[in-house]
Amino acid sequence: MKELWIMAVFATVSLSQGNLTISSVIPTTIDITTPTTTAPLTPESPTTDAPLTPEIPTTTSPTTSPTTPTITSPTTTSTTTPPLVCINGGKLQSQVCICPDEWTGETCSEGNFCNSTIKDGFSFPRTTVGWSAYSLNVCDEKTTSVGLPRASARCLNDTGSPMFGSPHKLQCELTLRDIQGNISSSSGDLLQLAFSTQILTSRPEQLSADNITTAAQIANTLLLSANITEDIAVAAITTISQLLNASKQSTQERDAVQSLTETLEKFSLNQHSNVSLVVQPNLAVQSVQVPSDSVGIQFTALTGESGNFVANRIHLNTNTSELIADKGGATDVQIVIKFPPVLYSKTQTTNHIGFILYQNDRFFRSRAFRASSGTSRRVISANLGQVSGLHVEMLFKPTVVPNASLYDFACVSWNYTLKDWSTFGCSKVNHSEDSLRCFCNHTTNFAVLMSFRRDFKYAEALNWITILGCSMSIIGLSLTITFQFATRKSRKTNPTVLLVSVCMCLLIFTLLFMLGVDNPHKQLGKPEIQEDNILPPSDTHTERDRGPCTAVAVLLQYFLLGTFTWNTLYATHVFLMIRNSLATSPSNFTAYTVAIGWGLPAVVVALTLGISYRVDDPLGYRQEEFCWLAALDPKGNFDFKLPMFWGFLIPVAFMLIFNTVVLVCFVVTTCKTNPHLTSTRHTSMKKKFLSSFSLAVVLGLSWILGYLLLITQNETMYTILNISFCVLTTTQGLQIFILFTARTAIFKKNMLSALKSVSSTGIPLHTKKFSLWRGKRREKVESYTQLDTDLSFPPWSSQTSN
Ligand SMILES: *[C@@H]1O[C@H](CO)[C@@H](O)[C@H](O)[C@H]1NC(C)=O
Ligand SMILES: *[C@@H]1O[C@H](CO)[C@@H](O)[C@H](O)[C@H]1NC(C)=O
Ligand SMILES: *[C@@H]1O[C@H](CO)[C@@H](O)[C@H](O)[C@H]1NC(C)=O
Ligand SMILES: *[C@@H]1O[C@H](CO)[C@@H](O)[C@H](O)[C@H]1NC(C)=O
Ligand SMILES: *[C@@H]1O[C@H](CO)[C@@H](O)[C@H](O)[C@H]1NC(C)=O
Ligand SMILES: *[C@@H]1O[C@H](CO)[C@@H](O)[C@H](O)[C@H]1NC(C)=O
Ligand SMILES: *[C@@H]1O[C@H](CO)[C@@H](O)[C@H](O)[C@H]1NC(C)=O
Repeated sequence: MKELWIMAVFATVSLSQGNLTISSVIPTTIDITTPTTTAPLTPESPTTDAPLTPEIPTTTSPTTSPTTPTITSPTTTSTTTPPLVCINGGKLQSQVCICPDEWTGETCSEGNFCNSTIKDGFSFPRTTVGWSAYSLNVCDEKTTSVGLPRASARCLNDTGSPMFGSPHKLQCELTLRDIQGNISSSSGDLLQLAFSTQILTSRPEQLSADNITTAAQIANTLLLSANITEDIAVAAITTISQLLNASKQSTQERDAVQSLTETLEKFSLNQHSNVSLVVQPNLAVQSVQVPSDSVGIQFTALTGESGNFVANRIHLNTNTSELIADKGGATDVQIVIKFPPVLYSKTQTTNHIGFILYQNDRFFRSRAFRASSGTSRRVISANLGQVSGLHVEMLFKPTVVPNASLYDFACVSWNYTLKDWSTFGCSKVNHSEDSLRCFCNHTTNFAVLMSFRRDFKYAEALNWITILGCSMSIIGLSLTITFQFATRKSRKTNPTVLLVSVCMCLLIFTLLFMLGVDNPHKQLGKPEIQEDNILPPSDTHTERDRGPCTAVAVLLQYFLLGTFTWNTLYATHVFLMIRNSLATSPSNFTAYTVAIGWGLPAVVVALTLGISYRVDDPLGYRQEEFCWLAALDPKGNFDFKLPMFWGFLIPVAFMLIFNTVVLVCFVVTTCKTNPHLTSTRHTSMKKKFLSSFSLAVVLGLSWILGYLLLITQNETMYTILNISFCVLTTTQGLQIFILFTARTAIFKKNMLSALKSVSSTGIPLHTKKFSLWRGKRREKVESYTQLDTDLSFPPWSSQTSN
């Protein structure tokens, strides 16, 4: 018995370790540095074409033709070109090489970086053109800026071969507060202060909330300063790009970053050079003046192997009003502003236009849209003063979230009054696997808010082994119930209620398990994009409950708890009878029993439902993949806050502990009594008690295995579990049948000799299965089963029939 108990506990514990690999996991991180080579809107769709199948250039949509001369997205659509071979770590995607930041060109063969250099005594690592490099020499330990680089230099490509510009040094004693003080008193060299700020923020993960606010204010002042130079602007933009990577989020920085975005807008509009572009890893700022007869302007950020922005992937077309039909997800973000006729009919004017592309929405923190931590959205800002009646179209590439697929999206713009996203004036145009398109009638900061749905991995339909096991169990249980009812009058004892209840609960549970454990309304990974442009409340979409699966889960919980409860009651009953040496149970036992047997599971189920179930989020109570209690958190770890633990395992554990206590009491009581006095009644009671207890353990093990079976992914493990489950399930039905039906005197008396042989073949089978995991106890089991043939041991209601 002990071994059985230990095994039951072990099974419970191994379940609670949570190292079972359940595969469905909520998307918690969007790794923007991972190559976004696939955009699986539908998981089953083939995402990347094999390189040997060139695209047939039949339908180049008319919208692309006017734009192709200036946008240099290398879309080679000739049937005769050999397949591209991307080098230097480039990834081929729909006949386009997606290059790492440091390489460019059609096959990623051209270097786009400054090689590591020692300049003015500072050593700089390899750096992409346009970005800033920080010296490997750092401030020493006695200074306030310990560990920060002592100098920075920007990689420039003015001469045709990329080279570092002259380094700017940091005074290692300087802090951001000092710089802020110096700037506001307009003392000191603005350029020096700008570069010092840039270096002080070069390790964004180390910045405190206070540092971030100060740095944002400094960058703001720099960008608004009257005598700003290009170098100062680049240093300020680099600082902002670094701040977008800062890990700390606080409410105190809110106003500072808010006004920073507004300053950036003004800055991008007021550049007086014809074209100016500053691209840093997290921020791209484009200023442009377009002639008045231009029909529209198009700004594009092409996809790179990393999510970072690189100057040669930012493209501008100053005379087009159409979005490119994006092929194969080569475009991350594109925005087109179509000028209204009134604007370009005015002669001799130029339009100032500014674009700002943010890597993430860190500066645009929404209250209406809850984002899971680690996810981010790109924000594009288009500015052209207060012109109304604008036509702005945008294209965003959908983010790839591991183990989740796009459900819906909304086109939004930032409302500075609300300090939140708003769908006002924006609408969805259309969407494809590679692009989500939006239209807005104003210019400001735009984004696409996407909601994702977890990809659930549904268990396969129940295996024939499982069905076989359950069916045999059902037959055994049905026979037992029928037999108990048929012989009720001749036996006249109340334990009929107990046994029939155990059997009923288990029978209903097994039937429900076979027929209903699969979710009838499976959530498939297909996007369900709505026409309406409605702000999603969160980036993880949860389906409202559709009923049947929760109902099945409730019934399964109720009847399995019921089985254990009745089993415990049965053990208690037998124990009380032995202890009190009663031939029959106490008179009021039945009423209590029925109340507890049917009531206790109901109370537990009601509590579980009340605490964890919400119509909006049924997955707090049940699982999605099959209709049973929720057990694992989105990451696949066992969660003690979920109902599987406290709504099932805890009550069952209590009952098993109770049974064990009763067992110990039973052993003690039996030992105390004179062994010579062991009457047949005591022997039979003992057997009865042991069988009841073993049944409880078999039940527990069996259904814990059944649960493991549903969630296991490993094939070998699955086969082992499946066979064990079948053996145990079959055993429980058979066991009940044999223990409580097949061996009774009445049953045997009424059976023909033919049926008797069936019964006696059933017993060795039962013994064999049992000895599989009872090991050393085998002899005892055998002696126990030998008793089966002994007519002096009618295990059920021996008192009355004898
Ligand atoms: C996605 O699911 C797989 C198993 O299917 C798992 O190995 C992986 O860790 C999951 N990824 C995330 C980000 O949760
Ligand atoms: C950041 O703030 C801390 C205090 O919050 C300050 O001690 C530290 O000097 C600041 N760092 C910089 C670079 O200014
Ligand atoms: C900048 O501020 C620091 C401390 O506030 C001060 O010591 C220093 O002289 C200032 N620098 C200039 C150039 O004014
Ligand atoms: C910067 O502008 C201020 C006035 O706003 C002026 O006093 C100062 O001389 C200017 N500095 C440079 C370097 O142009
Ligand atoms: C800027 O544009 C003006 C007219 O639009 C032109 O005269 C000037 O040459 C341009 N400057 C540059 C640097 O392209
Ligand atoms: C822009 O295109 C329109 C027609 O598409 C043409 O009339 C206009 O001259 C072009 N403007 C420029 C500056 O090329
Ligand atoms: C934009 O469209 C909304 C309706 O969607 C309209 O109420 C608003 O006036 C429009 N704004 C402009 C600037 O045209």
